Amino acid sequence: MQTLHVDVGHSRYPIAIGSGLMGNRELLDKYIRGRDLLIVTNTVVARLYLAKLTESLAPRRMAECILPDGEQHKTLQTAGWVFDALVGKKMNRDATVLALGGGVVGDIAGFAAACYQRGIGYVQVPTTLLAQVDSSVGGKTGVNHAGGKNLIGAFYQPLCVIADTDTLVTLPDRELRAGLAEVIKYGCVWDPLLFEWLDKNMAKLLARDVDALTYAIGRSCEIKATVVAKDEREQHLRAILNFGHTFGHAIEAATGYETYLHGEAVGLGMLIATDMSRRLGLIDGAVKDRVRDILARAGLPTEPPRVGAAQVLELMHMDKKVLAGAVRLVLLEKLGRAIVTGDYSRSELDATLKEYFA
Ligand code: NAD
Ligand code: GLY
Repeated sequence: MQTLHVDVGHSRYPIAIGSGLMGNRELLDKYIRGRDLLIVTNTVVARLYLAKLTESLAPRRMAECILPDGEQHKTLQTAGWVFDALVGKKMNRDATVLALGGGVVGDIAGFAAACYQRGIGYVQVPTTLLAQVDSSVGGKTGVNHAGGKNLIGAFYQPLCVIADTDTLVTLPDRELRAGLAEVIKYGCVWDPLLFEWLDKNMAKLLARDVDALTYAIGRSCEIKATVVAKDEREQHLRAILNFGHTFGHAIEAATGYETYLHGEAVGLGMLIATDMSRRLGLIDGAVKDRVRDILARAGLPTEPPRVGAAQVLELMHMDKKVLAGAVRLVLLEKLGRAIVTGDYSRSELDATLKEYFA
């Protein structure tokens, strides 16, 4: 087992990564305190892992809140169901919420924990690659609004993250690939050696080689912990972790959250942001080709949907990085280094959008 830490000053918590963690009573007892526990999960993950986890957590007082599966359910309504469960079980401030699932469950459960009685503790037990490399770490919680992605939420750090790599065995291939998009992101914006490593080890990752996956998760969490420690609330540096997300979130919203998985939309967004960086002369075409190539080899889509450029631009204006009406973009200066800027040629953005969208 590998243990890393996230330290944001007011909160320091462990990330445990490894095999068999969900059955490791000693570890669970050490990290999961609290008299009452509400396990928030969804119908798919409950069927696979809820019994195993509750058995390892016994004899605590536990209740469950099982949400419907899917990004379209990451709403205030489902967060309300978590509040209903907390109130229904008469849980107080000493209760703990445990998020068992992917990023959707983690974001909703963390948000509910942040709000309930003005904040109770929560634990992340991520079960998708995307959640293990990204969403369970760093304390971004929230839900979508019909007008845009993740518009309602809070920065609220978990008490710990327990990433049991055995759960990846049941993950559908498409979900695995979507998680790889976020690992590729870290290579693009922070760590050129990780990018090289991904280039060499993509086949192993797709074949679910345990050592390769564990390395990818550990390195991703190290990078995320480093960035979040420097800028928890995304005042500056953390925004680089949104590489591809301004375009990606707009693609998700424009297609009703049902056509692309989040990681797939981010992958497309990274391709478009890389191309925009090339148009602006920040990088040359070879870098763009490498990014496109690695996304394609990860089995991620590289063709955007037939949605209108004007609609995409309008949705981009709801991005949380918008300042004084200007859409700020995360762009590449080279592989492994990103900048966040609103200072770019508007006509190059229009040309980029026209190239990728109808
Ligand atoms: P998800 O939570 O929808 O999970 C993907 C699918 O896999 C779901 O159908 C789920 O039921 C299923 N599943 C989960 N674990 C499984 C397992 N072990 N075996 C089989 N099936 C399993 O999607 P995701 O990709 O994990 O997360 C995407 C969400 O995360 C988006 O809403 C995105 O906005 C959010 N996100 C948040 C952050 C953050 O910092 N908070 C970062 C990145 C993404
Ligand atoms: N997923 C980007 C972030 O957590 O900042």
